[in-house]
Amino acid sequence: MPQQYILALDQGTTSSRAILFDRQGQIVAQAQKEFTQLFPQPGWVEHDPLEIWATQAGVAAEATVKAGQNGRSIAAIGITNQRETTIVWHRGTGRPIYNAIVWQDRRTAAFCDGLRAAGHEALIRQKTGLVLDAYFSASKVRWILDNVPGARRQAEAGELAFGTVDSWLIWNFTQGGLHVTDVSNASRTMLLNIHSLQWDEELLRLFDIPPSMLPVVRASSEVYGETKTTVFASKIPLAGIAGDQQAALFGQQCTQPGMVKNTYGTGCFLLMNIGGEPRLSQHNLLTTVAWQIGGQTQYALEGSIFMAGAVVQWLRDQLGIIRSAAEVEALARQVPDSGGVCFVPAFAGLGAPHWDAHARGTLFGLTRASTAAHVARAAVEAIAFQTLDVLRAMEADAHLPIRELRVDGGAAANGLLMQVQADVLGARVLRPRLLETTALGAAYLAGLAVGYWSGLNELQALSPADTTFAPQADRAAVEASVAQWHRSVRAVRYWAA
Ligand code: G3P
Repeated sequence: MPQQYILALDQGTTSSRAILFDRQGQIVAQAQKEFTQLFPQPGWVEHDPLEIWATQAGVAAEATVKAGQNGRSIAAIGITNQRETTIVWHRGTGRPIYNAIVWQDRRTAAFCDGLRAAGHEALIRQKTGLVLDAYFSASKVRWILDNVPGARRQAEAGELAFGTVDSWLIWNFTQGGLHVTDVSNASRTMLLNIHSLQWDEELLRLFDIPPSMLPVVRASSEVYGETKTTVFASKIPLAGIAGDQQAALFGQQCTQPGMVKNTYGTGCFLLMNIGGEPRLSQHNLLTTVAWQIGGQTQYALEGSIFMAGAVVQWLRDQLGIIRSAAEVEALARQVPDSGGVCFVPAFAGLGAPHWDAHARGTLFGLTRASTAAHVARAAVEAIAFQTLDVLRAMEADAHLPIRELRVDGGAAANGLLMQVQADVLGARVLRPRLLETTALGAAYLAGLAVGYWSGLNELQALSPADTTFAPQADRAAVEASVAQWHRSVRAVRYWAA
C-alpha cells in the first residue's frame, strides 16, 4: 500500500491532538482531547504524565481510524509539544515518579532568585540564551530530585530518566526503547549549551542533576526509531521532533533569517529566524534553537507574551461581557476606537520584553461614556501592542526593520485583531488558510526525514499565505495610541514597584 500520510502529534498545554496530513499539506483527519489541569497550590501547575500519554495515544489512534486507516499507510510520525514541561520517570518500570511540572509552574521562582543573587545569571544566559526564570526545566528537575522521597538516590544510581514531553511520548511509543529529545526542546531545559549543542556539565553541577538522567540530543528531522506500541497495526518511523513554537516557525516556512511568526494562543509566542549563529539578545528576548536539519542548525529569537487569547477569556468568564471568545470581534467592531480606554492585561506580570513579574492588569482612561465595546476594543488593541513591543525589540536586536509578520493560532481568526495588528506595526500581516501550522511544522520535519517531501522547495509551494492585512490606519493616530500604551505600561510597573 502506498504510504499516503504523515501523522503529526501536537501535545499542547491543554489538549493532545493528532492530525493526518497528505502530500499537499492538507488535513485528512484529526482528533483532539483535553486533559486535566492540576493546581495543587497557588502558582503550581501539574499534568498527569500517564494522562498525557493516554490522550495522545488515543487521539493518534482516533485520527488514523477516521481516515479509514489503521496505520499501514502512514509514512512517518512527527511530534511537537508544549515545551519546558518536566517529567521524571523510573527507567525500570516506566512509571513517572511525580506529576509533570508544567512550564507555567512558579514553585521554583525563589530558587531561581537565589541563583541570581549568587551571581549565576550571566553564565546561564551566555550558555543557554535564556533568562534565569522558573519557566525552564532545570529548576523543576532539581525540585523533583529534592522533594520526592528517594529520588536523588535513585537518580544517582542511574535509575531515573528526565524528559520533556517529546521524550516521554517517544519513550512510550517505543516501549522504553528510545530516550531521546531534539535540539529545539533541549534548548528550553536550561541545561543545553546552545553553542556546542551538548548538555553542559557546569550547568548540570549548578542544578545538581546527574547526567545519566538526560535523553540523547538528536536533530529535529531524522528517523529516531519505530513505534512498538499496539496503537498502530504496523511499525511507523518516528522521524520529527520540535518544540511547538519552533514547529510553528517551521510550519510557517520562516526558514530565512529575519522571518518572523506570531502564534496567538493563550499567550503569544513570537519567533524570529536569526540563521546559523546563536546571537544573544540585547533587548530581553530569548535565544533558542529553532531546529537542526541535515546537520544545519538554525536559531531564533523569541519573545513570550503571557496574555493574548486569555484576555478574551477573561472578558468572557470574569467580566461576562461576551458569551463566547468569537463574540469579542463583533463587540469591538461596534466602536471605531477604544474611546481613550487603554488596557494593560498584566494579569500574570509582563513577559518579554519587560519581564516584570509584579505588574498587574489595569484599565486606564475610563469615563462615563466608556462601554463594554470600548473595553473589548482596548483588549484587542492590547494584544497588538504587546506584539509591537516584542517586534521592536527583535528589530533592535536584528538591526533590520520587520516588514511582514506571519500569524497563526486560534485568535488569528479574528480579522479585527489582524487589521489592528497590521496598523499598529505598520507592516503586513500574513495569515495562512490553515492555522494548524504547529502540527504542519512537525509533519514537514518528519516528512523530510523519510523523503515524503523532497526538500524546502517542495514545501514552499504547499502553503501560500491566504489573507494579507496591510496597514490602513492614519499613522499619527496610531503613534498617539502607541504612546498612550507605553505610558500605561510605565504606570503599571510604577504601581507594582
Ligand atoms: O513554552 C510553552 C509553550 O511551548 C506552550 O505552548 O501552545 O502548548 O500553550 P502551548
